Amino acid sequence: MTLEELEQGKAASLAEIAAAADAEAIEKLRVKYVGRNGSIPALIKGMKDVPKEERPAFGKAVQAWRAEVEAALAAKGAGARASGPAESVDATLPGRWGEPGVEHPLSRVIADAARIFGKLGFTVADGPDIETPFNNFTALNTPPHHPSQDRSDTFWLTNDQLLRTQTSPVQIRTMLAAKQPPVRVICPGRTYRRDTTDATHSANFHQIEGLYVDTKPVSLADLKSVLAYFANEMMGNGAGVRFRPHFFPFTEPSVEVDFTCHVCKGKGCAVCKQSGWIEIAGAGMVDPRVFRHVGWDPDTVSGYAFGFGVERIAMIKYGIPDIRWLYENDLRFLKQMA
Ligand code: DAH
Repeated sequence: MTLEELEQGKAASLAEIAAAADAEAIEKLRVKYVGRNGSIPALIKGMKDVPKEERPAFGKAVQAWRAEVEAALAAKGAGARASGPAESVDATLPGRWGEPGVEHPLSRVIADAARIFGKLGFTVADGPDIETPFNNFTALNTPPHHPSQDRSDTFWLTNDQLLRTQTSPVQIRTMLAAKQPPVRVICPGRTYRRDTTDATHSANFHQIEGLYVDTKPVSLADLKSVLAYFANEMMGNGAGVRFRPHFFPFTEPSVEVDFTCHVCKGKGCAVCKQSGWIEIAGAGMVDPRVFRHVGWDPDTVSGYAFGFGVERIAMIKYGIPDIRWLYENDLRFLKQMA
């Protein structure tokens, strides 16, 4: 390129920049002329091929071209987007009001339970939603033919694992991890069942499991006193518990646990079908077979377990008539929970 051609190139580039209509066009020209692979850097790179005696004048002209192009680009506001416009603050505008959130009723029940059982020495244990059939069924003394293992009740995964149907497998994990008693834990978490959603059912709900195992004798009376304390702390109003005989594969004996009806305080009303009691939890003394599955000797350890639904407590405590309200995150509903 001769010096004359170079001057023509410069004039053309400056004309192009002057004519650029918007930021996009300016950016394109910046790339074209002074970008890393632009034509001006290419000229600088090509300097070594310019005859030696012409090089100083040529170099000067290229540098001048570059400076003028950069100045022209800057004058058109190139790079303005990157550095941003000068910030302007209008101090007279009203502030932006971030609406305060409220604790979700399910979170609150779980936090309350952790606090209440915490006062009795229970810590919070955790387990995964995806479980093995061993932890969810076998170790809990639930045989393969038990209806709860049915494909129509349990979400089985393709790798022969499953979505836990209860928080009880955390009992197994806790005992296996502890290696030896005592253990005293509650385990809140999500559980899954192939239920059709309606006002009282959800395919994905929450439970809180409890487990106490010790080398000193643990009795059903211990279980009852702990759940009675929990009932009163959680529901207030001097709520108590009653036990009714039941069956669970992983406890022997097993009981269903009722709390004093929160509506009539035990007098009998339509909600509790005149009984004065509301069914809340399942519980019992840990079955010897469960201990054997985790390698513990049922002759030297004993314990109790219990499990209840978080949604059920939240619905009763806060008067929520439909379980689906707990999952819709409708602010009009959640604000009433504040
Ligand atoms: N896992 C039982 C359920 O989902 C609840 C339950 C009952 C848990 C008795 C326990 C228990 O730990 O001892 O229905």
